Formats: sequence, structure tokens, C-alpha cells
Amino acid sequence: MTAIKYELIKTCKQTGARLGRVTTPHGSFETPVFMPVGTLATVKTMAPEELKDLGANIILSNTYHLWLRPGEDIVEEAGGLHQFMNWDGSILTDSGGFQVFSLSDMRKIEEEGVHFRNHLSGEKLFLSPEGAMQIQNSLGSDIMMAFDECPPYPATYDYMKSSVERTSRWAERCLEAHQKPEQQGLFGIVQGGEYEELRKQSAQDLLSLDFPGYAIGGLSVGEPKDVMNRVLEFTTPLLPNEKPRYLMGVGSPDSLVDGAIRGVDMFDCVLPTRIARNGTCMTSNGRLVVRNAKYARDFTPLDENCDCYTCRNYTKAYIRHLIKTNETLGIRLTTYHNLYFLVKLMSDVREAIREDRLGDFRDQFFDQYGFNKP
Ligand code: GUN
Ligand code: ZN
Repeated sequence: MTAIKYELIKTCKQTGARLGRVTTPHGSFETPVFMPVGTLATVKTMAPEELKDLGANIILSNTYHLWLRPGEDIVEEAGGLHQFMNWDGSILTDSGGFQVFSLSDMRKIEEEGVHFRNHLSGEKLFLSPEGAMQIQNSLGSDIMMAFDECPPYPATYDYMKSSVERTSRWAERCLEAHQKPEQQGLFGIVQGGEYEELRKQSAQDLLSLDFPGYAIGGLSVGEPKDVMNRVLEFTTPLLPNEKPRYLMGVGSPDSLVDGAIRGVDMFDCVLPTRIARNGTCMTSNGRLVVRNAKYARDFTPLDENCDCYTCRNYTKAYIRHLIKTNETLGIRLTTYHNLYFLVKLMSDVREAIREDRLGDFRDQFFDQYGFNKP
């Protein structure tokens, strides 16, 4: 028995997008899916009941952050991450690879692992494939990620090639070190940047290791949108049809739809929760900065097309007032709305796949959101 099951329900005749279902030891969810990010064992400002209420069945958390604080031993002693944070849905944990590269300075990559400094205290630390597996086994997430290297964009072909080869060797060590394959599924991460040949090599290496799911890493690192779309176009066909595909760190509304069209099943990003905390909202008519003075007397909801808790009960004028006065309810309301917006968007995407009209849906959504405007 493996911990993760994927069923392909149907493929959109208009676009090739996949409607599927993933089942983990903590329930199942339909894909394409957006996963809210709960870096420090909390989706900032949201109680688990609120996440359930807005439609989330899977959230993401981070190995690196929980290793530093409070320490995976404390989480394990609490009975694992689900019990510790009172979330009984599915949890995916990123491996720490990406966070080490994006947060820490003075990192030194060796075959054994990565030396770097704690981004809070400056203390010297070391993380390896084996360490990332041990921590994720202690956390008890449903889906663990392999420890990989995510090189910056742009990187030379030669650098990327040696990085892909190291990531493949690390993936093999991860599989070897993983102690609980019956309870926790381990996903491999395809790297290779913008280079088709290297994506091919990476996918081939990882496929031979037979992971229960595959992620596409190294995107949304500063490359233009058309580069990401092109990379997805040649990478998703390299992955098995009968396993889930996860595009890491991508969560702008246009990229979710364009990723689904290219055969991606899972997405995560801090974007909706991060922008919510400075008063920026995703709406069906594009981004709305509710702090703006023009909303001081606007007694209508954030989005007239949204039926979330925030939009059913509060006005722009009130939310603006809360945020301007640093009242915490303000950012709770915008966070709830933004997460609802993306979760609902994915539910609309799934409906469109079911009815073979995701291409039409994209055109209409992009027009209204304003992505097609010059
Ligand atoms: N999050 C966003 N991109 C990446 C990536 O390439 N690797 C990992 N581990 N996490 C990510
Ligand atoms: Zn709303």
C-alpha cells in the first residue's frame, strides 16, 4: 500500500487539462487544487475551521521553519503536525531545499547537503536529504517533498546540468532514508530550469525511482510568464498520467488557469495570504487595494461576484478602516476572501474541465480579470 492514491477522472477535450482526485491518509480532494500555505503550522490569521469553511482540504507547511521553531521533536511529541495545529485535512510539507536557498545567506552546497546560516540567529546549520526526510517523518505530513536544489534564474546550462544530476542523486537518498512510505507519500521534484533537455533528464532520473507523485520545481523564480508556460508545455508530458503533478510556488490567478491547461494538478503560493495582509484583494475584476482613499465611503463588498463570508457581511469602507487602524480583523477578512477566491477559482476550473470548456473559461476569466489588457 502506498499513502497517496490518484484517480484521473477526465481530461478536458478543449484543453487537455486534467480533472482528478487525490486521496491521502487524511481524506481526499479534487484536482486541480490550490493549497493555502501555512509555513509555521498556521495559515496566517486563519483558524482550521475557517480553512475548512472556505473549502480547503489540503494545506502546505515548511520543513525548514518547523525544524527551527518549535523543532520537529516537539511537533512529534504533540502527536504530529495534524494534532499539533488541530488540522485534520491533508498536509504537504516542502523539504527545506527551496527555503534554504531563498532565506539563508552564506550557503555552501556540497554533495552531502547544504551548509548555511539560520536566517533568524545566524547560527551555522546543515541540511541533507536524510535530514529533510527525518524531519518530515517526525512532522507526519501526508505528502513529503524530496530535498532538491532550486537554482536561481537565469542559470547557465552547465550549472543547471550538474544541479539536476545532484538533485537526482539526492532524490535517491531521500527515497532510501524515508521511514514511513505507507503513511506518507514522497514526491520527487523535476528541475532543469528553462532547458528542455535537462527537464527530460531530470524527469527520466526521477521516474526510474517511481515516486507516487511529481513536482515541477524551479519555476516562478523570476522568469517571464511565457517561459513558465513553455517549460510546462514540454515538462508535463514527461510525467506519468496516473500520478499527480504539482507546480511549486505558483499561485497568481492567471498562472493557475494556464498551469491547469498544461496538465498541472496541484499548486501552492503565499501570494493570496501575503497580499491580503497589506490590504490587496483578488477579485473577479482584478486586484483591488482596499486601503485606497477612494474606498473610504464605498459601502459595497470587495467583490460583487463573491459569496464568501467577508463579502456577504462587510463593506470595503469597513475593511479599509480596520486595516488602516491595524485592527487584526481587517487582515483576517481579506485573507479569508483571497483564499476563498483561489479555492473557488479552482472549483470553477474543475467544473469547466468536466464540461470540456476550460479554453472558453480562460478567455472569459482573463478578460474580466484584466490580464488581456495592454
Ligand atoms: N517552492 C517553489 N519552488 C520550489 C522548488 O523548486 N523546490 C522546492 N523544494 N520548493 C519550491
Ligand atoms: Zn469574498
